[in-house]
Amino acid sequence: MSPQRSARGRALGGRIAAVLLKKKTIRDIDVANKRVFVRADFNVPQDDSGRITDDRRITESLPTLRALLDSGAKVILASHLGRPKGFDKRWTLQPVADRLSQLLDRNVPLAPDCVGERVELMVNNLQSGEAILLENVRFHDEETSNDQSFAKALANLADIYVNDAFGTAHRAHASTEGIAHFIPGVAGLLMEKEIEFLGNALENPKRPFVAILGGTKVKDKIGVIENLLPKVDKLLIGGGMMFTFYKAMDCEIGKSLLDEDSIDFAERVLANEKLIVPIDVVVADKVEAGASTYTVDWDLIPSDGIGLDIGPKAAIEFSQIIQSAETIVWNGPMGVFEIPEFSHGTKEIARAMAESNGTTIVGGGDTAAAVEKFGFADKMSHVSTGGGASLEFMEGKLLPGIAVLQDLE
Ligand code: 3PG
Repeated sequence: MSPQRSARGRALGGRIAAVLLKKKTIRDIDVANKRVFVRADFNVPQDDSGRITDDRRITESLPTLRALLDSGAKVILASHLGRPKGFDKRWTLQPVADRLSQLLDRNVPLAPDCVGERVELMVNNLQSGEAILLENVRFHDEETSNDQSFAKALANLADIYVNDAFGTAHRAHASTEGIAHFIPGVAGLLMEKEIEFLGNALENPKRPFVAILGGTKVKDKIGVIENLLPKVDKLLIGGGMMFTFYKAMDCEIGKSLLDEDSIDFAERVLANEKLIVPIDVVVADKVEAGASTYTVDWDLIPSDGIGLDIGPKAAIEFSQIIQSAETIVWNGPMGVFEIPEFSHGTKEIARAMAESNGTTIVGGGDTAAAVEKFGFADKMSHVSTGGGASLEFMEGKLLPGIAVLQDLE
């Protein structure tokens, strides 16, 4: 593999997301004939029969895998799936191995475990340009406890560690952090892309820079709001958490969601004029498809109503702000978008982002699912594969799975 970084990478290097963009990537190393341990995030949703219902996390890892295989690496893939307690076949990575084999057009066998003699034998038989997938690393409790001996056993399988699991980079686990203390660790191409998009938006955004935050609890977004407010030109609030902001303004919110512990925080940040809450709300008496709905101004929610979406006037106001922005970051739906009656706000924000000429970044599992559902995913500049990880990144935290990787000299 060429030791040259991409022109894009060079242009960005040194300035943005200072610590993060200084990390080595697979572009900076020679992998020919080397055993390369690739930690991916194949924690993909499945239906009851084990069929993968959204393979984006797998397809997004393909550029890294193809680059390594084409450069003659022996690829040892690893991931977690779910949160199993011990060995549990329901959480096997076999469906992922099958999907990878299809997508890469070559057999990617699944090892019976992620450590042990049988795995070592499979690794020893690997030829250049071949890949195997280790079984779910979370079948061992030592993965999440970041046990040193377990991390060392994983490291012993390989010469080089590549972390491409942005979605799990906020976890200091054995296969995301511990392993890189034993063998040199670099970022994969998906990890690089995530860092570039999110890092650029936070550190060097083209302005106006607008952030949109939704979702249910203010508590989950306090760190993000605190980190973003000084950086953005406008911060739009929607979703279940908007009612805590109304409450902080002493308004009736009926039976809408309330995050009692965060009222004081909401009151404090409302003083910042960059923060905008929806001017109207879609209300119903039950959270069900087919429920009859009506729209009220933000301060007129009746005591028996449940607010379930931003209203049409708010959707227009937010869309106009989005249209005039150059950088837009969105995390958290505007309403209960899974139910058609409460999906309008989320859909309109997705549409406005899709029609924007600026850089549009979507983070968070629910928000990514929403833009996919409404058919706008391909129109976004970047849809992050990280849920919790993208939130922590936006909080300004240095994620352990990234921090541990080697710096460029
Ligand atoms: C995710 O889906 O957010 C990541 O794969 C991390 O999974 P976890 O929350 O179980 O650590």
